[in-house]
Amino acid sequence: MPSKMQIILTACVVLSGTLPASMEAVAAGTRAAKRSKAADVDPRGQVLAFSCAGCHGTDGKSVGIIPGFYGKSPEYLEAALKDFKSGARFSSIMGRHAKGYSDEEIHQIAEYFGTVWTKNK
Ligand code: HEC
Repeated sequence: MPSKMQIILTACVVLSGTLPASMEAVAAGTRAAKRSKAADVDPRGQVLAFSCAGCHGTDGKSVGIIPGFYGKSPEYLEAALKDFKSGARFSSIMGRHAKGYSDEEIHQIAEYFGTVWTKNK
């Protein structure tokens, strides 16, 4: 007949086998919950967006004759930047500027500018 100690030890071994998997599931759930919040945009986008602020302001309300994009969606901004980069859309400045970013960085910048205005309406 197994002693109490043996039963406890067996339970520990069985549990420790399932623990890492369940911890992983909890962590994945937490990450997904964080991502789903609109406020949780990749902070790298904000850092990259500093290079745009001289002409477009920190939120897309541009200076002087430079066109603004305050209030535009992330999808609109990403498409515009990619079109400038490829040359599909004519530009004087933006084509050269957009060529300096990878598509992933353009996505992060678009996510930042495309949601920043929702936080300081
Ligand atoms: C030196 C000034 C300058 C900088 C810096 C600059 N832009 Fe521009 N931007 C312009 C000008 C000028 C235009 C009009 C198109 C053209 O002639 O290049 C424009 C147009 C745009 C448009 C199109 C707006 C619309 O309504 O469709 C977007 C989007 C944009 N810029 C985003 C950015 C982002 C994002 C950055 C930073 C990665 C940036 N720009 C950096 C000057 C600038």
